[in-house]
Amino acid sequence: TALRLADTHGRVATDLRVSLTDRCNLRCSYCMPADGLDWMPHEDTLTDDEVVRLITVGVERLGIREVRFTGGEPLLRRGLADIVRRTKDLVPSPDVSLTTNALGLERVAPALRDAGLDRVNVSLDTLRPADFATITRRDRLHDVIAGVEAAAAAGLAPIKINAVLLRGINDDQAPELLAWCLERGYQLRFIEQMPLDAQHDWHRDAMVTAEEILESLEREFVLTATGEPRGSAPAEEFLVDGGPATVGVIASVTRPFCGDCDRVRLTADGQVRDCLFARTESDLRTPLREGASDEELAERWVTAMRGKRAGHGIDDPTFLQPDRPMSAIGG
Ligand code: GTP
Ligand code: 5AD
Ligand code: SF4
Repeated sequence: TALRLADTHGRVATDLRVSLTDRCNLRCSYCMPADGLDWMPHEDTLTDDEVVRLITVGVERLGIREVRFTGGEPLLRRGLADIVRRTKDLVPSPDVSLTTNALGLERVAPALRDAGLDRVNVSLDTLRPADFATITRRDRLHDVIAGVEAAAAAGLAPIKINAVLLRGINDDQAPELLAWCLERGYQLRFIEQMPLDAQHDWHRDAMVTAEEILESLEREFVLTATGEPRGSAPAEEFLVDGGPATVGVIASVTRPFCGDCDRVRLTADGQVRDCLFARTESDLRTPLREGASDEELAERWVTAMRGKRAGHGIDDPTFLQPDRPMSAIGG
């Protein structure tokens, strides 16, 4: 490809994260208020054809090699399997993955696998039903576990589990989550909570840090560096009890990895975000609907990426949380 999604800090985006809806069937406290949010108007949401068109421009003209579907909850998008199939069929065929809460995955995992989905990452913060209900405000732990098991049975591998620890609720459960994942061959990563909640309740001192998480794991497991280069991956991986199994921490706040970022985001309403914490977006939906050519869309996208900032700036005194919450960006 002649064009690339390069910024002025030497980074090139090759990993496209596509939010397919801002809706969700859980209400995780670190993401959404109990009553939910005002959902995006239907007419603003890209159609299946429009999403696939933009992904095609990214893959065919801009060097995108990985496509991740997110939400809100991407399984709520009716056309998901079709979007997956049309994405996987592009040339060159990208790595296609899904980040999901796994509700409903039990039913659709085989169809998604048939459509060409390579793998899934599932959000699961606790294995205790009462704590699950406290964190997500829904009593659905068993459905999530059934979804994970169905994904594994369908051959969606590797399965990665993402866990956020909340002080006073599940911050003592890192070892039991790890034991559960080790038994089943799932790759567990712990995520530091980021200031992306719709309620703006995030406080740095309330966040469970990667250091605390590793300390708590080290009381029951021996963790050693993998010695493998991490590249652009957000997760730092450690061998568990000598390996080969690993556990990861995604320490966005205390050990930022923005310098190696290779990600770009597309929202469900067709806006390019150069960063999770971007303060501005670039509209591709309007030119798309006004009949812009692939070439014009590609050029706009390239321009959108140039101004990507060096880092998220969470520690800057001038830091401002983005207007768009996590559920409308897609993590
Ligand atoms: P794979 O390991 O390739 O599956 O990708 P991943 O870890 O990037 O994907 P996933 O969607 O599971 O993301 C896990 C967590 O990392 C989520 O909480 C994301 O919000 C966070 N994350 C992903 N990309 C970024 C990023 O660019 N910046 C920051 N700060 N966090 C990110
Ligand atoms: N900070 C960190 N991770 C978050 N997620 C949702 N909200 C936040 C937040 N404020 C996680 C979910 C899911 C992924 C998409 O992002 O748990 O694993
Ligand atoms: Fe939870 Fe993700 Fe839904 Fe937010 S978007 S409520 S983190 S499942």
